[in-house]
Amino acid sequence: MHWDFQQLQDAARQEIESVTDAHSLESFRLKYLGKKGLVADIFLSLASASAAEKGAIGKGANDLRHLVTALITDKQKKVSSQQRPGSHRIDVTMPGAVPNLGHRHILTQTTEEICQVFEKLGFVLEEGPEVETEFNNFTGLNIPIDHPSRDAFDTFYLQASDLTAKGRKLLLRSHTSPGQVRVMTAHKPPLAVIIPGRVYRPDAVDASHSFMFHQIEGLLVDKNIKFSDLKGLLTEFCRRFFGPSVKMRFRPHYFPFTEPSAEVDIAADIFKGTSRKPWLEILGCGMVNPKVFAVAGYPPGIYTGLAFGMGVERMAMLRHGIRDIRMFYENDVRFLNQF
Ligand code: PHE
Repeated sequence: MHWDFQQLQDAARQEIESVTDAHSLESFRLKYLGKKGLVADIFLSLASASAAEKGAIGKGANDLRHLVTALITDKQKKVSSQQRPGSHRIDVTMPGAVPNLGHRHILTQTTEEICQVFEKLGFVLEEGPEVETEFNNFTGLNIPIDHPSRDAFDTFYLQASDLTAKGRKLLLRSHTSPGQVRVMTAHKPPLAVIIPGRVYRPDAVDASHSFMFHQIEGLLVDKNIKFSDLKGLLTEFCRRFFGPSVKMRFRPHYFPFTEPSAEVDIAADIFKGTSRKPWLEILGCGMVNPKVFAVAGYPPGIYTGLAFGMGVERMAMLRHGIRDIRMFYENDVRFLNQF
């Protein structure tokens, strides 16, 4: 068989001119280099060629293959540069990808909402550190040196030493009440502050306890503050936060830094039909113990004050019907997106 290699090369060069996209380029490749393509045919014809012809046919086939390969490589660059994303027509009617918008965590929302109620009542927001001294967390609050809550069992102690007290370690505050000591040693009455923040206790974790939770401390000091002011303030707060029909009760209690002291419970409809108690404790409170005023250096007999420490998780649980405190920390978006 006779091949006109010059003519075949010219034809290939001419044909590539009309190739404009990836699809026609592939057809071109198959026509020349495919299994049943022209180059393969030429090689097949070697079988029936005379010994004299074989050399020329082999060389012709190889030259053609090299030419076609080069033409394809060259064309590929042009075709793919045409297909860069920017060179495509943009379909402006296509719906866009909606980004996932985050929002504040339910505990942040609850904290802010509680603080706002007190801010409207004239309280000022303060913050204290989570790493505290034993003095601010205990001693300054009249919690005696042998009080069980000082035990490592009920408090997370750090390896770090307290540089202000020899032999004492720093700790993770177990309540926001050290904020009382900080505020009173820095400011003279009259004062009204709320102090939100994280607190830590090595409690066994269950549906209503966690080793870390959030509290909001309240402190009001002035002349003539009475227990009825404390009751009135907290009752008004609960009505604003839970609604006017909220069922609450003050239950006598003991705290070393308030005298007298009480705890407030809210009727927990969320536990109806379960084995859980129908009341949920939300805060401890009382009249500031004069011993704490003495720590702050206030002159005796002039000021009285009220204080309370509220659990934020519990407030959110009652408000939204959440029965398990652990859900706040699992970061399951199916839970978080509900609030
Ligand atoms: N700090 C107490 C607690 O965590 C609560 C409290 C605060 C009680 C202020 C009285 C006054 O249990």
